Amino acid sequence: MCGVIGFSGVTPCVTSIFNGLKRLEYRGYDSSGIAVMADQRISVVKSKGKLNQLEPLLASLPADACVGMGHTRWATHGAPSTENAHPHSDEGISIIHNGILENYKELKIKLLEEGVSFLSETDSEVVVHLLRAELRLVHDVRKALLNVIGKLEGAYALGVMTQHEPGVIYVVKNASPIVLGIGHNENFFASDVLALLPHTNRFIFPEDGELARIVPDGVEVWDFFGKKLDKEIVSLNQEEARADKGGYRHYMLKEIHEQPAVLANTIERLVDLEAGEVRGELTGLCKLDLAAVRKIHIVACGTAFYAGLMGRYQIESFARLPVDCELASEFRYRNPCLDRSTLVIAVTQSGETADTLACIKHAKKAGCQTFALCNVLYSSVPRESDVTLYMEAGPEIGVASTKAFTSMVLNFFLMSLELARLRGVRSPEGMERALEALRILPNQVSSLMSLEARISELAGELFESGHCLFLGRGHFYPVALEGALKLKEISYIHAEGYAAGELKHGPIALIDKNMPVIAIINTCQDFEKTLSNLEEIHAREGQLIVVGQDKDRRLEDLCRYMIPCPVSPEPALQALLNVIPLQMFAYFMALHRGTDVDQPRNLAKSVTVE
Ligand code: F6R
Repeated sequence: MCGVIGFSGVTPCVTSIFNGLKRLEYRGYDSSGIAVMADQRISVVKSKGKLNQLEPLLASLPADACVGMGHTRWATHGAPSTENAHPHSDEGISIIHNGILENYKELKIKLLEEGVSFLSETDSEVVVHLLRAELRLVHDVRKALLNVIGKLEGAYALGVMTQHEPGVIYVVKNASPIVLGIGHNENFFASDVLALLPHTNRFIFPEDGELARIVPDGVEVWDFFGKKLDKEIVSLNQEEARADKGGYRHYMLKEIHEQPAVLANTIERLVDLEAGEVRGELTGLCKLDLAAVRKIHIVACGTAFYAGLMGRYQIESFARLPVDCELASEFRYRNPCLDRSTLVIAVTQSGETADTLACIKHAKKAGCQTFALCNVLYSSVPRESDVTLYMEAGPEIGVASTKAFTSMVLNFFLMSLELARLRGVRSPEGMERALEALRILPNQVSSLMSLEARISELAGELFESGHCLFLGRGHFYPVALEGALKLKEISYIHAEGYAAGELKHGPIALIDKNMPVIAIINTCQDFEKTLSNLEEIHAREGQLIVVGQDKDRRLEDLCRYMIPCPVSPEPALQALLNVIPLQMFAYFMALHRGTDVDQPRNLAKSVTVE
């Protein structure tokens, strides 16, 4: 969950490291630090809080340092504090770490018994002390590091700098993401490609169990047994992502507004509207042995899981295949029945989510076919999967996922159409309706942007509420779940999403005049049934806010506030349209409450630990 970055070159690197950390700050933002080496001496600055707290300290680092590493932290062991911030250093050794060392306690107890004193409460600091002890024995940093690695259990991406080898950075990867960047007279490492795009588009992607040595004129890689590896250098034609907010107050707002373009691009890329066909080969589905598939498991976390729930409805209704959608953190420990007849689909914006990645590895071992729907090129989940469909939503920086979510939903929709064709169960009328819905979708999404003022006004009335309930049925149930998640993560208001049919089985007890209830209701699915749930809420004085179609007078009589959405001929895309006002609602509620919209407390964009 932390971000790591390092440079070994011949030009001063402090500013580049700091700017790289800014691009990685979405991964963790409770403290940060930089270590650089100049004249064979390591200098370190660290600070609690966001990177702007670190910035004033940079002047104290040697301006001519050409080798260094930076870290932005999401605390796992030990509170966010300057002491616990990385790098951790001692006797000319400095390390940064992303991951969790599962056996750090026993290692620490042993080191304490040997008289070592610790400066932090982190798991990571054991690496410094273990390496110092090894270096006394073997006097060779790479060998010493390999000996240390032999003692570590858990997940780690490590950057290591020592005065024993000035100018050299070692990087170790095991179950935490790391990429190496290849430049001219300078080489780099970082947690992701995005951080290095201003410097290079040539990358090496180390596998778990590999160690790299980075110097200005080269990069060497070995496995943990000491065998030298010949790694492929991959050139990515990825445009350098704009790291600014493009004039918007927050990344989240910018990303909400990017949705019309992202969805239009996806349709243009994956659908030939004139021919009336999905460009099937681009989905990658034809590369699977579909004749063998009897069942699909979708695995994901958080928002991606809700997109997966929508995908389940879509695939079952179009392609007529049984689909389960499960939280990755549950699936991986449940011992599900898996074999080649099961297709496991991992949905993940970052491609690095630890639980989702573990599911794909588990599924592969069990003989399943694996498919990734992902937004980040060359991230870990695609690299582990048989086939990947990249969403191409562009970098999502706001911690609360918006454009990635709607992009996942649209990609699932197109995948289900293609699966239906490949399985020979596609109906011409169904396809016609789907194409009609796709043709009008981008304009419909654009038109939703004009709801901003209305939703901001609503948030102005509700932002002091302590709770909020979201309800929906069928395709709109995952919309309710997603609306609740968005609200709680950025406004810190307690919110729950419920299937409307579940109301009477418990949550109705919560309804009184102080409970805002946001209902997602559309004529295309279970309208009358949901309407009667709304009657029940109205009868108990709940404050009803309706998101959906506004054509029915009965709704107007019941609700206090109506957020009208355009009407799609496809329930799945109707659900996509309905979620956008809920993203805006969460955004404006957070704005009114003065919380940190883009970097909400306790969260990080990329959850690389369990
Ligand atoms: C919520 C949110 C998270 C992520 C989840 C999975 O807005 O962004 O719930 O959806 O952490 O992340 P990915 O999609 O990167 O696997």
